[in-house]
Amino acid sequence: MDEQKPTISVGLQGVYITETKICKVDGNVGRLYYRGYAIDALAKNSNYEEVAYLLIYGNLPKAAELEAFRQQLKEERDLPDFITDIIAKNAEKADPMDILRTCVSALSMSDSYAADQSEAANFKKAIRLISKISSIVATIGRCRDGGDYVEPNKSLGHTENFIYMLKGRDPTPQELKPVEMMYILQAEHSSNASTFSTLVTGSTLADIYSAVTAGIATLKGPLHGGADEEALRMMYAIGDPSNTEQYIEDALAGKKKIMGFGHRVYKAYDPRAKIIKEYLLSIQNNSSDEVAGLTEIALRAEKLMVDKLGQSRGIWPNVDFFAGPVYRSAGIEIELFTPLFAASRIAGWCAHMIEYWRDNKLIRPLEYYTGGLDLNYIPIANR
Ligand code: ACO
Repeated sequence: MDEQKPTISVGLQGVYITETKICKVDGNVGRLYYRGYAIDALAKNSNYEEVAYLLIYGNLPKAAELEAFRQQLKEERDLPDFITDIIAKNAEKADPMDILRTCVSALSMSDSYAADQSEAANFKKAIRLISKISSIVATIGRCRDGGDYVEPNKSLGHTENFIYMLKGRDPTPQELKPVEMMYILQAEHSSNASTFSTLVTGSTLADIYSAVTAGIATLKGPLHGGADEEALRMMYAIGDPSNTEQYIEDALAGKKKIMGFGHRVYKAYDPRAKIIKEYLLSIQNNSSDEVAGLTEIALRAEKLMVDKLGQSRGIWPNVDFFAGPVYRSAGIEIELFTPLFAASRIAGWCAHMIEYWRDNKLIRPLEYYTGGLDLNYIPIANR
């Protein structure tokens, strides 16, 4: 073959695919901005509805705009019967991410705007998805525990209602704060694998439901959104905090990856992990035995990993590492972590899709072929 071998960016590492005004990840110094606002400022001062508005529309809302947006989200909270049926029939045995992916795909069938590709229709569909995905995730969690669909409470805020539909009662401040924080921190992260997947699907001019369904499918994997569940499973496997160092040393010696560490873009401490860790430290003295134990394991594991691989290899905790103990402090079951990630990231997926469609270009990279050519076709009977 005389074709010259091109430079291949395995895993699209280092490849820019588009311009964006939605998100900046400065991986060298560990900074993250949504529409120019630092994640620390948003986590401290904002709320999920405002962050979702910011991502989708590009600016912080005035009070009346935020109220109108909140109202639209509230109006979209109900789930059609065929969606609650899918959940009720499968929740006790199926993987929650499989149920979520199926429900989001199915939702398109009850949306009269599903095929309308105008931007106005896509804003409507984005609001619908942001609202309904939270209701779907809450209902999956509830039905997994043997409960029934709880009608949404339209007097509550977005994350309050999530907990209300999950638990069948108003949230406590100890439940609401961490859930709100995680919703804000996971809402957006530039061209991560699931957002890229969303863009690939949408770039064919398939509708936003198809695009987001692809995003959910991609988020499921343990190298991406599924890492928070795996990190907590590791902490459970460690069991007693005094086992932490030996467990991590053995895992590294066995060339295993420690879930919740490392990142394609961050070569410094992930600012989201810093915020989550700070929250965990703030509740440390008032937490349950389970959360206190998990926190100690997490802190010991973090110290060892940072000492060993932080400065030297650029492997630091990412958003997923401390998420488990924090979710557990809100009484969220482990199997719901990745679905909740999707319930938050839906704002980022929709924002990116709407932005990309303004100057759409089919995403179609190349592969360098290394197989044979012009092989002699042998009839099946002679092979
Ligand atoms: N633990 C131990 N070693 C690690 C880790 C880790 N968590 N992450 C990377 N490394 C090592 C690799 O073993 C590899 O070492 P080598 O060069 O000696 O072979 C080197 O660092 C580079 O790792 P890659 O996996 O090739 O780097 P890449 O940029 O492709 O991976 C990824 C990024 C997938 C996130 C990786 O760090 C990883 O698998 N982490 C664990 C899973 C995880 O936490 N994912 C969530 C990411 S955040 C998110 O998606 C929301």
